[in-house]
Amino acid sequence: MNRKTLLITGGKGMLGQEVHARFAGKYEIRVTDLAEFDVTSPGECRRVIGGLCPDVVVHCAAYTAVDRAESEEALAFRVNADGTRNVARECREHGAFMVTFGTDYVFDGNSSVPYGEEDRPHPLSAYGRSKLAAEEALKAEAPGHLLVRTQWLYGAHGRNFVFAVLDKARRGEPLRVVSDQKGTPTSAVDLADATGRLLESGARGTFHFSNDGETTWFDFASFLLARAFRGPFSISPALTGDLSYPAPRPPYSVLSKEKYREVTGVVPRRWEDAVTDFLKTMHEGEGAIR
Ligand SMILES: NC(=O)c1ccc[n+]([C@@H]2O[C@H](COP(=O)([O-])OP(=O)(O)OC[C@H]3O[C@@H](n4cnc5c(N)ncnc54)[C@H](OP(=O)(O)O)[C@@H]3O)[C@@H](O)[C@H]2O)c1
Repeated sequence: MNRKTLLITGGKGMLGQEVHARFAGKYEIRVTDLAEFDVTSPGECRRVIGGLCPDVVVHCAAYTAVDRAESEEALAFRVNADGTRNVARECREHGAFMVTFGTDYVFDGNSSVPYGEEDRPHPLSAYGRSKLAAEEALKAEAPGHLLVRTQWLYGAHGRNFVFAVLDKARRGEPLRVVSDQKGTPTSAVDLADATGRLLESGARGTFHFSNDGETTWFDFASFLLARAFRGPFSISPALTGDLSYPAPRPPYSVLSKEKYREVTGVVPRRWEDAVTDFLKTMHEGEGAIR
């Protein structure tokens, strides 16, 4: 039997690599990234998507430099909004089902209960605005789609908070970490799996997915150090206002997974379990924890 074809954009990124692993063996997979397929070019999108005519496109390509986006908003919009529009248009044109990812940064964080899919977005940052514009372009161009909003992603591939904390501790640098922003760390492996489950269950529209539970960046960092770092370290809590990040962050951006649970019948595992598993895998892996 001929397998269906699945095209991944941004396939060398943190999530793209886990998406590849999750769908390998189930689909005929074509992985692309910026070097061979720039999604900001409508012509490239036509050439690649029109040439392959995939059944599914998992669009992971994105501009993800949250702080840099404050001074590069036009570029963030070009990659996130225009890129998503270009991919969505070709998906519609060539009958491919489009899957892509959104962010908790579309919310302002003024809630005190987990955000549902229908809650009103109000991004505070340039990155958040570019990702909201991407959602709007997706809905306009590819009415049949799957959009999975997520947050606080970490994984084995690429820079992320887990490696940043452990690297800093290893260099003996004191850590000051914000204790007044709440969210949920999310394993890229679990997100790729959740995306697979949603796709396999025929889900359409917007879903939220993260691991379960909630924490602060400070508690997350403390958890990592307690679990994975043997040497002496220094960590102290800081308020967002004390650290001068260019991009404003939502103070509370926990996502409700109720809709995901209803459709898939699965409750995401606790963030502590996913992180513990990740640290163990990294430790056993060739490079160990970096
Ligand atoms: N990371 C998080 O905490 C987080 C949280 C919420 C949502 N998300 C969303 O999850 C998705 C995946 O994020 P990620 O963390 O895996 O990002 P990532 O590691 O930065 O991967 C994105 C990939 O897209 C590529 N790319 C950039 N511009 C491109 C272009 N014009 N054409 C084609 N490819 C391009 C990047 O290449 P280069 O590296 O060469 O630029 C990179 O390989 C994104 O939609 C992101 O917004 C992420």
